[in-house]
Amino acid sequence: MLAVEAVGRKTQTVEGLNGAPIQKAFVEKFAFQCGYCTSGFIMNCQGLINIHPDASDEVMQEWLQSNICRCTSYQEITEAIKSVLSSENA
Ligand code: FES
Repeated sequence: MLAVEAVGRKTQTVEGLNGAPIQKAFVEKFAFQCGYCTSGFIMNCQGLINIHPDASDEVMQEWLQSNICRCTSYQEITEAIKSVLSSENA
């Protein structure tokens, strides 16, 4: 989206997720390698967690299609999401 579209709206950057469960889960699950895509993936995963706290594997797979990682399989990223969802739904 264009920055002008965010005028008057609450926004969050990846720096705002410093120490968030999804950031920790990415480290614990080795959900990155070179890190080029990681900021975008962490933001995207947080959006998924916010909107779909009971996301199925199919929802996660579809949601993650908007980002591309050239290094990892998406399994580690999905595991990071699942670890956050399971701890929040416990
Ligand atoms: Fe390298 Fe995703 S970790 S592109």
